[in-house]
Amino acid sequence: MINAQLMQLIINASNDGIVIAEKEGDEDNILIYVNPAFERLTGYDRDEILYQDCRFLQSGDRDQPSLERIRQTLRQGGVCREVLRNYRKDGTLFWNELSLSTVKNEVDGHTYFVGLQKDVTIQVKAQQRIAQLEKDLAEARETVRRLEATNGANKPAN
Ligand SMILES: Cc1cc2nc3c(=O)[nH]c(=O)nc-3n(C[C@H](O)[C@H](O)[C@H](O)COP(=O)(O)O)c2cc1C
Repeated sequence: MINAQLMQLIINASNDGIVIAEKEGDEDNILIYVNPAFERLTGYDRDEILYQDCRFLQSGDRDQPSLERIRQTLRQGGVCREVLRNYRKDGTLFWNELSLSTVKNEVDGHTYFVGLQKDVTIQVKAQQRIAQLEKDLAEARETVRRLEATNGANKPAN
């Protein structure tokens, strides 16, 4: 059985962000724990962000479809995994794969959420690059097809 001290060491050693938030009212889920990897990922010290809702990471970039699915999980409970545009303390963008789970504590009657944050910026940029290359290739193919069709139409009949 793992004791609390070992559990703390493991959470501190994680390379991905781990946060715990407690439901407060209808709108906010306030951070009551963040691990060192979350501080490294976001550039914020825990003292600056504890007792705040994690939405500060979105800065002004609030028009994101994945947010609606996150809100649904926060309303209904359960789990979800979504990729979001987030911003570090210095303003730089990173793509954050957030994995959310709901924990209902029968003892105190409170609802908690656990969030795991993974920086997937490299993967998202690679996907965007591939999509652009596929679009360019489709356009080039279409140009070749049109040129061949025009050449074929202009060829003198033998
Ligand atoms: C445990 C937990 C972790 C969260 N982590 C993030 C995060 O890393 N990045 C982010 O943009 N939103 C995160 N959120 C979601 C926001 O805190 C917020 O719930 C969401 O934006 C919905 O609120 P809104 O209706 O004001 O947009 C997290 C929420 C919870 C409960």
